Amino acid sequence: MDGVPCLRVSQCHAQEFRKCLQSRGALDLSLCLLKESDGTVLLPILPSCLSQLDLQSLRSTVASDNTCEIVWSQSPLQSKKERGKASGSKLEKILQELLESHGERWTEELKGDIPRSFQKHGDLVLLRDGCFSLPLWKKMDQQLWGAVAKGLGAKRLAKMSRISRDGFRSPVVTMLLGEHSWVRHVDNGIQYEFDVTKCMFSAGNITEKLRVAGFDCRGETVVDLYAGIGYFTLPCLVHARASHVHACEWNPDAIEALQKNLEANGVSDRCTIHRGDNRQLQLCDIADRVNLGLIPSSEDGWPVACRLLKRTTGGILHIHQNVTSPLPNTAAIPAINDATQRASGKKADREAWEAWANDTADRISSLLKDISGAWWKTNIQHIEHVKSYAPHVHHVVLDLECRPS
Ligand SMILES: C[S@@+](CC[C@H](N)C(=O)[O-])C[C@H]1O[C@@H](n2cnc3c(N)ncnc32)[C@H](O)[C@@H]1O
Ligand SMILES: *[C@@H]1O[C@H](CO)[C@@H](O)[C@H](O)[C@H]1NC(C)=O
Ligand SMILES: *[C@@H]1O[C@H](CO)[C@@H](O)[C@H](O)[C@H]1NC(C)=O
Ligand SMILES: *[C@@H]1O[C@H](CO)[C@@H](O)[C@H](O)[C@H]1NC(C)=O
Repeated sequence: MDGVPCLRVSQCHAQEFRKCLQSRGALDLSLCLLKESDGTVLLPILPSCLSQLDLQSLRSTVASDNTCEIVWSQSPLQSKKERGKASGSKLEKILQELLESHGERWTEELKGDIPRSFQKHGDLVLLRDGCFSLPLWKKMDQQLWGAVAKGLGAKRLAKMSRISRDGFRSPVVTMLLGEHSWVRHVDNGIQYEFDVTKCMFSAGNITEKLRVAGFDCRGETVVDLYAGIGYFTLPCLVHARASHVHACEWNPDAIEALQKNLEANGVSDRCTIHRGDNRQLQLCDIADRVNLGLIPSSEDGWPVACRLLKRTTGGILHIHQNVTSPLPNTAAIPAINDATQRASGKKADREAWEAWANDTADRISSLLKDISGAWWKTNIQHIEHVKSYAPHVHHVVLDLECRPS
């Protein structure tokens, strides 16, 4: 598929991201940046650096900002040599021909309504919200999607739209062209297959997956209480070499993907899937490690996780939570500069995570005492920052060691 990989970031942080990419040698200096109509900027990345790029660390160096994702852009990213010369993309040419064959005229308005960047999942292109919104496109019917796919070098097309549900504008993916909506990702040597219309693949989870892959779980029995399509279960089996993983999941679509993924990676013999609500799980006293990967909070799973830990030796809980830190009172210190403000914000964030971890450790200790009738010691091994949702809302993971004393 043709196109240039780019980092899509918000305009206000574009210069910082550009410097960061450049210092890592990942910026394609022969190409120009591209401003999108929605106030984001595309920074061209050298394709050879793509797999090494750590989005999470980029995000945390620059700003806790939502927009920082890899997209693919078609040719309009002009090379610096050709700057100023008008150059239409292959997609543009194909669409222009299609319109003209329907007796329509090619206008700037139409040109502005075609996507300049998109996500790629193998042979499937996922278009963003806000393109092909003009009524004229409807006239082209199914021919339009065939032409778009051809123009982008894809076989299948899907589109993301934001739909209001429970007060949140959650993304919904619909297929425009293609027989099926399953896609495959290879990430750190693990194959993930999933249905783009039912599960979202977010690059923000990559660091957590890499961290899990680095664990040594040889000889361990592990329980993944919220397995999803296997983002914890798979690296735990493939790289961390757990003896056995019990994977709990209640969504049939996720279970279907999880089963495919276990087979594709040749580890299904070391995994048992438990369908249904994990709070009803009948297992107890078996686990060396329990993963609780649910946000905003996994609290509902704490009692079952405590029951699962081995009574005589205990184990480790990986507790995910969405932690909100208090906003710093900047009005009181008006002359404060940006860097100082950012540093004090980071300090406040860390304190909030630590306070939450301390409170969680206490509550887990008392749950363990209630369940086993004996005293337990808890130890905060590590607090991992996974992702920022807003300047003060962070997804963190607490590694809590729990031992009977
Ligand atoms: C956020 S996903 C977890 C993905 C994975 N752990 C990760 O970190 O990427 C949470 C999954 O938990 C499942 N889930 C939520 N509550 C559950 C429950 N009570 N019992 C079983 N599964 C549950 C959801 O269906 C969803 O697939
Ligand atoms: C990434 O992790 C978070 C928390 O575990 C989850 O809410 C989100 O859905 C995950 N992304 C995918 C693609 O599963
Ligand atoms: C994080 O938690 C806050 C408050 O608990 C909530 O408003 C927000 O929607 C949560 N975000 C996510 C992505 O779960
Ligand atoms: C967390 O607990 C430790 C040990 O008891 C203590 O030193 C630290 O100040 C606590 N942190 C917060 C933010 O409450």
